[in-house]
Parts: sequence; structure tokens; C-alpha cells
Amino acid sequence: MSAPEEEPIIFAPETFQYNKYSLDIGDVEKDPIEQFTKWFKEATDDPDETLAEAVTFATAELPSGRVSSRILLFKELDVRGFTVYSNWETSKKARDIQSNPHAALTFFWKNSQRQVRIEGPTEFVSRQLSERYFKLRARGSKIGAWASPQSQQIEDRTELDRRVSEKEAEFEGVDDISCPPHWGGLRVVPLEIEFWQGRNCRLHDRIVYKRNGEHDPWKIVRVAP
Ligand SMILES: Cc1cc2nc3c(=O)[nH]c(=O)nc-3n(C[C@H](O)[C@H](O)[C@H](O)COP(=O)(O)O)c2cc1C
Repeated sequence: MSAPEEEPIIFAPETFQYNKYSLDIGDVEKDPIEQFTKWFKEATDDPDETLAEAVTFATAELPSGRVSSRILLFKELDVRGFTVYSNWETSKKARDIQSNPHAALTFFWKNSQRQVRIEGPTEFVSRQLSERYFKLRARGSKIGAWASPQSQQIEDRTELDRRVSEKEAEFEGVDDISCPPHWGGLRVVPLEIEFWQGRNCRLHDRIVYKRNGEHDPWKIVRVAP
């Protein structure tokens, strides 16, 4: 006999119908990078779509298979793929990527009732590209990237403030703070990209682009909601 289920703490929170737009194979671009560019522009142009560049970045450590995900800011798209920036030495995602280069990105644009899922192997971008983006960051964020051992346990807020003060002193008078060696861009090279458009009664439109390898042609299919 199975044990009785626990009483839920939260149960079936209220939700809504998705009824704004539709999506068909005939509507999408042949190249998913172009399709993404179109949807991303629509999301960033929409004043109700705050932080359209926020994306869930999922990784899995091997051999344990433990999965983790977190929100990052999507910063760059080129013909090869989608780049995010982070600490690749001390963070949990760094640990995951070292053991397993595969990752997934998920965008959710609430106002347009759209989701985009991107899956594929990752690769570090060149130092030159990481430095190009690092230069654009605010001075405080540059110092933070040097000072903070991302995702490592620290004693308290005072320890973080002390680390930041040390780096501020080190960089005093330095106009052009360099990009830390452990910090930079990671590109997800897509092998699969799904465009999801919410529809009524949960009968959503899902158009998926797939390819076996980076140099293979894309195949476009519709999948069931
Ligand atoms: C809106 C938002 C944007 C974020 N952007 C980034 C980012 O671009 N890079 C980053 O390293 N962490 C970013 N973070 C923090 C991450 O979610 C996470 O706390 C951090 O990267 C450590 O993750 P990890 O321990 O899983 O590696 C962001 C968090 C939020 C909520």
C-alpha cells in the first residue's frame, strides 16, 4: 500500500489562456537565426516585455547527471550561436560545462506568449570577443567580476565588501580594467531551436528546427503541444 500523498502547500495557482498569436511552418524563416532575430526584436521593442534578454541557462554535470539552471543575460548572437557571459572558474555552471559541454537556453516572453528553446554544445568565445563585451560593462561590474568568487561560499556580506574594496584599491587610477581570465563568453551552438507560440486550450503551436551537426542543413517540423 502506498503512503498517502502530502497535502499541497500550493495547488493549481490561477493561470490564463494564451490567445494572442499563431505560428505555422509557412510563417517562419528558413533559417532559425533569422527567425530568432525577428522574435527577439519584437520582444525588445515591446515596452511590456521587461528584460527580454533574460534567459534560463541549463547545464548538467557528468557523471552525476545533476542538472542545474539559472537566469543569465543573453548578450550576443552571431551566425554560429548564442553567447552568454559569466565566470567560468568558480561557478556551478563552470563546473557543469567542464564535465559536459552541452547546454540549453530558454527564453520566455510573457507578453507575446512565446517561448524559444535552444539546445546544443557550447564553446568559449575568443578572448578578443570577451574583452570587447567586458569593456562595455560599468566600472563597478568590472571590479565585481574580479572580486567575487562566483558561487563559492563566503563568510558574510562583509567578506564580499572587503574583496571589492581590495580590488578597488588595486585598480585605483586604472581607466581600462582588463577582463579577468576566468570571465568571458560561452556560445551555445544550436542543434535544435524551438519556437513556441501559446494558443487557446493549451493547443500551442510549436515549430522546431533540427540539424545533426553545425554544418548540416536545418530541418523544420511541427511538434504536438
Ligand atoms: C535577471 C538576471 C540576470 C542575470 N545575469 C547574469 C549573467 O549575465 N551572468 C552571470 O554570471 N550571472 C547572471 N545572473 C546571476 C545568475 O542567475 C546566477 O546566480 C550566477 O550566474 C551563478 O550561477 P551558478 O552558480 O549556477 O553558476 C543573473 C540573474 C538574474 C536574475
